[in-house]
Order: sequence, then C-alpha cells, then structure tokens
Amino acid sequence: MNLTIIGSGYVGLVTGTCFAEMGNHVTCVDLDEKKIADLNQGRIPIYEPGLEPVILSNLADGRLRFTTSLAEAMTDSQVYFIAVGTPPGEDGSADLRHVLAVAREIGRCLDKYAVIVDKSTVPVGTAEKVAAVIQDELDKRSVDIAFDVVSNPEFLKEGAAVDDFMKPDRIVIGCNSDQARDIMCNLYADFCRNHNRMVMMGVREAEMTKYAANAMLATKISFMNEIAGLCDALQVDVEKVRLGIGSDSRIGFPFIYPGCGYGGSCFPKDVNALISMAEENDLEPMILNAVHQRNADQKNVLFRKIVARFGSDLSGMTFGLWGLAFKPGTDDMREAPSVVLLRQLIDSGAKVKAYDPEAMDVAMQELPKDWFEKGALVLCQHQYDALDDVDALALVTEWKPFRHPDFKVMSSLMSQAVVFDGRNQYDPKEMKSEGFEYWGIGRCGDYSRVAGVSESLSESIPTVAIV
Ligand code: UDX
Repeated sequence: MNLTIIGSGYVGLVTGTCFAEMGNHVTCVDLDEKKIADLNQGRIPIYEPGLEPVILSNLADGRLRFTTSLAEAMTDSQVYFIAVGTPPGEDGSADLRHVLAVAREIGRCLDKYAVIVDKSTVPVGTAEKVAAVIQDELDKRSVDIAFDVVSNPEFLKEGAAVDDFMKPDRIVIGCNSDQARDIMCNLYADFCRNHNRMVMMGVREAEMTKYAANAMLATKISFMNEIAGLCDALQVDVEKVRLGIGSDSRIGFPFIYPGCGYGGSCFPKDVNALISMAEENDLEPMILNAVHQRNADQKNVLFRKIVARFGSDLSGMTFGLWGLAFKPGTDDMREAPSVVLLRQLIDSGAKVKAYDPEAMDVAMQELPKDWFEKGALVLCQHQYDALDDVDALALVTEWKPFRHPDFKVMSSLMSQAVVFDGRNQYDPKEMKSEGFEYWGIGRCGDYSRVAGVSESLSESIPTVAIV
C-alpha cells in the first residue's frame, strides 16, 4: 500500500518505518526542514533502540522517503496517518491546533477516496472535528470526494517501540465504515499472522481506549506508590507485598513497581487531558485527580528522604545521581523525576555529579545553563565518576548498568556510603552487609516523617534506614 505519515516525531517515525519494513511504500512528512534533511541522510533525530537500522535499510530500498511537502506526499496514498503533537494547553487539555491544521491541508489536496487515521493521542470527538475540517475544505473546492476518518491509537513504549509496533499486544481500530475497516484490516494483516490482534470498535471508543489504557497504568503505579508510603510508615517491605499481590493473576506484575514517580510524554499528559475531558463534562474525576497528585508528590520522595537524613541545608554536600532519562532505554527527560530532584538538591545548596547512559546530550541542552555555569551540576563520563567523593548516591532511573554495580568500588569512591534507591534496585540486607546505609521506596522506615511532619515519631526512628 502507499501510505503518508504526517509528523515525523516519535510516533510518526516509528509508524512509518515499521510499515515500510512490512513492504509498504511510505512517505513521511514533517515541517522541520533540518529534521527531514537529516533523515534523508540517514541521521536519526531520536534515540530508540533498533530504529536506525530499519530506517536505513528501508531508505536504501526506496520504500521510505522523507519530505517537507504534504502536497507532494499526497500522490497516490490510500491512507494518511496524522501523527503530529498534541501538547497540553494551559488547562491540561490536548491542544489540537496541529492536528486540525494537517486536516485542513489534507482537505486542500485530497483528490480521491482515502482513509485519514488519527494516530496522535486525541480527545474523544476529535475524529469528528477532523472530518468536519476536511469536508469544509472540500466544500470550498466544490469537489465531492468521499473519505473516512479512523482512530488507531498507538501503544508504543519508548525504548521498545519497534518491537511494540512489530509485535503488538493489540491493534485498536475505531471506524464507522466498512470500506475503511477493510483497508485498515488489510494494512495490519501482516502484524496479525499468528493470531488476530485486531480490536475493532467505533471511533469514539478507540479515542477513549487510548486514554483509559494510559490512565489505568498510571493508576496502578500511583496506587503502588501510595502503598509504598504506607509500607515505609508501618515497617513493611513493599517488595514482598509487590510479589504477594502480583502473583494474583487478576492483579499481575506489570506496572506495580513503586518508585520515585512516573514521567515521560504520555502518562502525565494523558491523565491531565482526561481530567480536562471530565471537567468539561461537569464530572469530578476523583480517581484521576488523585493519580495526578500522588505522582506529583512522589517525585519529591527521594528529596524528602535526603532531607530527613542530612537536614534541609545541603550546602557543602555533593550527591551522585544515576539516571536522568524518565526511564531506561530512552534519552527522553520529559517530566523526568530526575529534574525535580536536581532542582531540589541545587536549590538547597548541594552539588550534583550526574550520569546517564543516553540522556547526557539532552540534559546538556535542556537543563538550566546556570546549573552548569555555577558548577552546581557536573555531567560525568562514567557511572563511577559520579560517585567520586560524594556524600550519597540517588538512583533515579533503573538502567541495566546500575542494577548490579561493584559495591566495593562504590564504597571506596564515596565519602559516605549512603544510597537513596528511587527504583528499589538493591536488596536492603545485601546493602547493609556491603556497609551501605540504604534508603529505598517503601523498604521499611518512613524517614520522610523525621523532617518535621511528626516530631514525636523522630525520636523512635533509628538513624540508619536498614532492616
Ligand atoms: C507509555 C505506555 O506504556 C505506552 O503504551 C503509551 O503508548 C505511551 O506511554 P512510555 O511513556 O514510553 O509508554 O513508558 P512506560 O514504560 O509505560 O513507563 C512510563 C513511566 O512509568 C516511567 O516513568 C516508568 O519509570 C514508570 N513506571 C512504570 C513505574 O514507575 N512503575 C512501573 O511499575 C512501571
């Protein structure tokens, strides 16, 4: 099939590349001239494992091309994917400006029946708006061309996007016409050879499915983070509880890992967009509000523990920080808990030595310049360099090289062997035997309370957070 993908960001690029890999002829369009020039030269603008070789081979085979001109790309395509950004507006709702601008452009150029697919995450009712804008342009041109607008949300995880696309758990297709349904089923047939993964539904249901899926996952995490807080207060090890509840097949193990909060481009934005949708419809989104609040607060949890241990004036102290990306496998720092912790540490007078296997360039570009200029933040070349003479380590992102570090090397480098583990990567007992003072998330001992919330409790709390 001939396909046009509009928007060569994360979703558009992965979608276009994977469809080309399945033998389709794909034209990817983006307004960003530099990005398109780079892509045509085989330079990939994002870090995503496994993506580069697939782009390069499909470019070489002529199945994938990149252009800045939508009009030029609109020759002979049967399906147009809209994969442009829907950034949050001031009230948290998704801003549809780019989506509707693309729809208008499609309406200006459409010359025969086509399926227009909303791939971007968009609020319920957007397909109807897209259809209205396209129809408006067709009316202006006084032409009578049929088209269908379909919702086909993506469920890609950063760091595993190519695999997720090629071997999806499910392919959700929302459409209200038989002709569009047949075209979409045909397009995805190769991804469902061994078992049918297509979930067909109406357009509005598909739009809601995407938000509900992300909000459900965010809820699982936030629920577990709340339980971890209780575990800290009640001297319970949340890791045992996680194993105990995850083994119930009705609950399952995925997305119940407590930590220092979720980040990324999807969960925070989508939970907020769903809150906006509820409020616009005079509903109070009680659970969603709680999920949002729990996560915002969870990003403070490591700092609270640090203050409980060292006090609120951290001047003269240096902290090592492992992990800047919002999760392993990506260089993306959007909404990353690391940024919240960095700000808190630096505002309290501390210096930070940070290391991330992939996100160093992004950190250099996106973090405040004055942090570097005044020497408050140093980016290190190696994970152990970030421990040199530090008073404590904060582990924020669970990259594989951080999972089994050399504890002997660590303690020989650090001036104090104190570890704040924001992803529960280490065993508290092992850490104790290695001579570390260990602070996990919900690993017994709510030392956050020591810092003022409950003075009376502080007297009964031991100084070392190890059980
Ligand atoms: C998510 C969805 O998984 C994906 O389907 C959707 O298309 C986009 O949003 P992504 O943001 O790439 O994908 O990352 P994901 O692996 O889902 O993790 C999101 C965040 O949750 C990360 O910050 C991660 O650290 C955190 N997380 C995840 C937890 O804190 N605990 C968990 O148990 C799982």
